Amino acid sequence: MDSYQIIKTYIDRNLKGIDHLCDIGSGGVFNYSTGALAQITALDLFLDKKKKPSEGNILFIQGSALEIPFPDQTFDGVLLSMVLHHLTGESAAECQNNLKVALKEAHRVLKSGGGTCVVVESCLPPLIYGLESIMYPVTTCLIDAMLSHPATFLYSAGKIQNEMERLFGNCKMEKIPRGYWQLFLGFKVPTMLVPSFPHIFVSSKI
Ligand SMILES: C[S@@+](CC[C@H](N)C(=O)[O-])C[C@H]1O[C@@H](n2cnc3c(N)ncnc32)[C@H](O)[C@@H]1O
Repeated sequence: MDSYQIIKTYIDRNLKGIDHLCDIGSGGVFNYSTGALAQITALDLFLDKKKKPSEGNILFIQGSALEIPFPDQTFDGVLLSMVLHHLTGESAAECQNNLKVALKEAHRVLKSGGGTCVVVESCLPPLIYGLESIMYPVTTCLIDAMLSHPATFLYSAGKIQNEMERLFGNCKMEKIPRGYWQLFLGFKVPTMLVPSFPHIFVSSKI
């Protein structure tokens, strides 16, 4: 899908120079050039049992973004691509706390002295984000009752940038242009009907 091809170019550009990457919430889907990295640890809550534990330079590991099963300062880079909005809880406050925990975990496993954290997320304009936070208990019930796709909680770009800035002391944010098509709650839909906009956030662990 065109939107994901555009996102790929942004991820590739920001993963340059990383040796060992932890791809958190990889889903076994790599929307970047895996061959450009020496080593990839692909972490996900769910593993495809039919897949081998490793494939070329990729090692598949089961584990949670909220409790990464690796010691401090293991990786040169971490990637959280389209994952943060899946770390939902019972309330908007619980989702927002999970965002903080996941970023703190990503920061912990990164090497200091230049480890890179790359986050890619579809973000809502601030007003819609505010509405989503208020409506969250109702919308999750509706989504759970009507769709097979799990309920998600999207953030505003400002919220993610603030959290990363607070944790790392720096965060470069870019809005990624959208293509004509993208996925929304598991459906392929024309981009103009979707209120979210992909962004990439990059922080360096000093
Ligand atoms: C939308 S997919 C993103 C896949 C891939 N990163 C991409 O960019 O296309 C979200 C992934 O996050 C994983 N996930 C959800 N909660 C997680 C958690 N607590 N820890 C690790 N992975 C999680 C899901 O299993 C799923 O594979």
